[in-house]
Amino acid sequence: MSDAHAFAALRALSDGRFHSGEDIARALGCSRTLVWQALRDAEADFGLTVFKVRGQGYKLPETIEWLDVAAVREQLSGPAADVLALALAERVDSTNTQLMRRVDSAPHGLVLAAEWQDAGRGRLGRAWRMRLGGALAFSLLWRFDKGPAELSGLSLAVGVALARTLARVGAPVALKWPNDVLLGGKKLAGVLIELSGDVQGPASVVIGVGVNLAAPGDVGQPVAGLADAGVAVGRNALLAALLSELAVVLADFDAYGFAAFRDEWQRHAAYLGEAVRLTPAQGAPHEGVFAGVDERGALLLDGEAGRRALFAGELSLRPIA
Ligand code: BTN
Repeated sequence: MSDAHAFAALRALSDGRFHSGEDIARALGCSRTLVWQALRDAEADFGLTVFKVRGQGYKLPETIEWLDVAAVREQLSGPAADVLALALAERVDSTNTQLMRRVDSAPHGLVLAAEWQDAGRGRLGRAWRMRLGGALAFSLLWRFDKGPAELSGLSLAVGVALARTLARVGAPVALKWPNDVLLGGKKLAGVLIELSGDVQGPASVVIGVGVNLAAPGDVGQPVAGLADAGVAVGRNALLAALLSELAVVLADFDAYGFAAFRDEWQRHAAYLGEAVRLTPAQGAPHEGVFAGVDERGALLLDGEAGRRALFAGELSLRPIA
C-alpha cells in the first residue's frame, strides 16, 4: 500500500463527514478493497481513528485542513514573500533531517513543511510527535555570513518570532530557555536548530519548528495545543504567519544579533526569578535563581558562587526540598 493511496483516501475524508467506500474508490480510480486497506494502514501508521459504519462508509473524527503551498504563499507578508521558497511533503522522516541532507546545495530560504514525520526530532535526542492534521512541522534553511559562535542566541530569537505570532492569534505563550514554547505551563511548540559551517563562518542553519494546534496523545510529558487556549486558526494561515515573522526576525538577528531580542525574550521567559535546576547532558546539575539571559542567549544563574552564564542543558523548576 502506498502513502499516496493513504493520503488520497484521507483527503477524501477531510470534511469530517461520512463517505462511502464506493465513492472514494471511484474518485481515486481504485478498488474499494484498496480504499479499505489504505485507511487501515493510515490508522496504523498515523495513530488516528477512522470511523466505519455499515451503510454509511468512513469518517474522520475531525475535519482536516491539509497544507497547501498556494494558500501559504498567498498569505505570506513582508520580506518572507520574496525570500522564501516553499516545499511540501506528505510524509518524511524529519523535515530537519531532509534539509540537513541538502544543506550544502539547497537555496537560502527553502522551507520544507510535512504533513507527517516518522522520526520527528527534538533537542537532546528526544522524539517530536505530532497529531496528523493537528500540528505544523516545518524546517527552514537560512545562511549566515557569521560563524556558529555568533549564532548562540538564534534559537531564542526564533522563540521570540513564535511568541509574537502566537500572541497575535490569541495564545499567550511563555518561552522556556532555550527553545520551548509553553502554553499554560505545558509544551506547545519546540525549535530544533542544526548548524553546518566553519568556525569563522559562513554558517548554514536548519531551523526546525513544531507547533501543536491540537495536543497529541501521550508523548511522555505535559503537552498543549492551541485549541486549549480556544484558538482555532487554520494550518495554512498559521504557517504563513509564522514564516512571515521568522523572515523579519532572522533578518534582524543577522543585522543586530540576539541583543536586539533580549528584552523581549525576557518578557516572555518562564521561571524568571525562580529557583531552577539546569541539568547538563553530562555532569552535575547547576542550581540557582534564574536571572534571565545575556546578549549571547546564555542562561544566567545566580547561585552561591555568584552569577554564571550557562549555554546548555535542560531547565526545570527546582523541586522544593
Ligand atoms: C524540541 O522540542 O526539542 C524541538 C522540537 C522540534 C520539532 C520540529 S518539527 C519540524 C522539525 N523536524 C524535526 O524533526 N524536528 C523539528
